[in-house]
Amino acid sequence: MRKKIIAGNWKMNMTPSEAKALAELLIPLVKGTKNEVVFCVPAIDVTTVVKAVKGTKIQVGGENIYFEDKGAYTGETSADMLLDAGAKYVILGHSERREYFKETDEDINKKVLKALEKGLTPILCCGESLTQREQGITIDWIRMQIKIALQGVTAEQAQKMVIAYEPIWAIGTGKTASTEQAEEVCRAIRVLIRELYGQKTANAIRIQYGGSVNAKNAAELFSQPDIDGGLVGGASLKADFGAVATA
Ligand code: 13P
Repeated sequence: MRKKIIAGNWKMNMTPSEAKALAELLIPLVKGTKNEVVFCVPAIDVTTVVKAVKGTKIQVGGENIYFEDKGAYTGETSADMLLDAGAKYVILGHSERREYFKETDEDINKKVLKALEKGLTPILCCGESLTQREQGITIDWIRMQIKIALQGVTAEQAQKMVIAYEPIWAIGTGKTASTEQAEEVCRAIRVLIRELYGQKTANAIRIQYGGSVNAKNAAELFSQPDIDGGLVGGASLKADFGAVATA
């Protein structure tokens, strides 16, 4: 049985002092859940949030890394930096990074390899635009994104990873994919993982849905056979995350 994983993606929200207050608000609300809960937070907040969740089962993640170990890359955060600050996860390939910061599938592949080499667990994001969905190429697109991102990743490494299916048209729009749409793509991702790595890896890898997940729709989405939890934006910044994380 795969353990469900519910991750909040705080995006570019919360100063360190706000992050501390939010973590303290959420900790009692997610207590007692059987799910794994992760707060993915801005790099500047990682140390503060790691300290705040100490003694709980909550894990902390970053929202990005650079694929080099260290050096003259002004403004970037390395895998070692996140790990040393206490993070265990890192979101990679979020559609906002692809769109605003021009990350390519090849960049994301290098970041996935670096995270795995260092021992950070990637939450690898993929997702189609509304135009792509209307063109009927959703599954082809997702398969391409994942196949490139996983170049050079071994089955053993893939088993530990998390893949987040986030249709771009559902992010921050209040327009959630229907349960059937979300399950269809998450199932297709598992089929692809089976093709690439075999049944054992397909059974082990966790696949999340993300895009306007909230306290009302989380339980139904997460009850689908191939949806192992969610990557949550807006609802992770408020008390609603308690209901999402325990769904
Ligand atoms: P929303 O939950 O705000 O739609 O954001 C989803 C997301 O992008 C999580 O990574």
